[in-house]
Amino acid sequence: MTQRKPAILVARAIFPSVIERLREHFDVTSNDDDAIWSPDDLASRLQGKAGILTTGAERVGAELLAACPDLRIAANMAVGYNNFDLAAMTERGVQATNTPDVLTETTADFGFALMMATARRMAESEHYLRAGLWKRWRYDMFAGAEVHGSTLGILGMGRIGQGIARRGALGFGMKVIYHNRSRLDAATEVACGATYVSKAELLQQADHLVLVLPYSPSSHHAIGAAELAQMKPTATLTNIARGGIVDDAALAVALRERRIAAAGLDVFEGEPQLNPELLTVPNVVLTPHIASATLPTRQAMADLAADNLIAFLTTGRALTPLNTPTGR
Ligand code: DGY
Repeated sequence: MTQRKPAILVARAIFPSVIERLREHFDVTSNDDDAIWSPDDLASRLQGKAGILTTGAERVGAELLAACPDLRIAANMAVGYNNFDLAAMTERGVQATNTPDVLTETTADFGFALMMATARRMAESEHYLRAGLWKRWRYDMFAGAEVHGSTLGILGMGRIGQGIARRGALGFGMKVIYHNRSRLDAATEVACGATYVSKAELLQQADHLVLVLPYSPSSHHAIGAAELAQMKPTATLTNIARGGIVDDAALAVALRERRIAAAGLDVFEGEPQLNPELLTVPNVVLTPHIASATLPTRQAMADLAADNLIAFLTTGRALTPLNTPTGR
């Protein structure tokens, strides 16, 4: 007698080749139209499913877990997992996984590019050109901030932060300073060319501050009005971490009043909505949460999320686990 394959749900459209691979192991319900499902829709589609492949947009919290008692694993196609209530998942015996490493370099590339675009006013000057306003050269036209040789500050020194540090130190001769919950070991600091400083020193000394820390209640509004007030008026701020780490309303005021020079934002509080004030200030570069968006990297993320589902539901061991479920 053939055994029935476990049923899983893929919450968003992903690479068809990955869906095909998942079908070899599971009875797959996919969302090929990439429809937006309400939390209730998600819960009802998840009935009887042992696994779900999520993106950062689907919340796996206590309510969903209570409504879906068959769920055994949620595999996030993202390195960040603030859409998961990890404690509730652990208590319910649900495995959580994410996709570390495969996106590190691509995301570091983007963080560095966004910092540079912000420092050199690329979006603002492009809008000027597209609007037909460019009539002649002027010595100070769109004069931006120096990148090479300046001080790069990194808040959150995990894998991606370290990648940005290496780019700054080795590629652009920047002085790199960082602050993190825990200090890196000496060899890693040397490899990144980075020096540990307090958060206050980071804010005060950075010419370009890049945020790469994970979101949690303790990092909520880690950069608000008080922190922005400590930065240099010539400094830039780049956020590729998560919405909610910056108080976007306070940032819009700081940008309008030129209390800092400029910001580059890939993530927003309440995205895909964003604070409308941010759309009215010129000195900000805005991108729609695309730091990991190259096709090879997105393919690697989807593959790793799928491999986590396959490994866990066939052997009981996930490849990149975030928790050790206890509750089952
Ligand atoms: C991540 O992996 O956490 C990214 O933000 C998703 O692109």
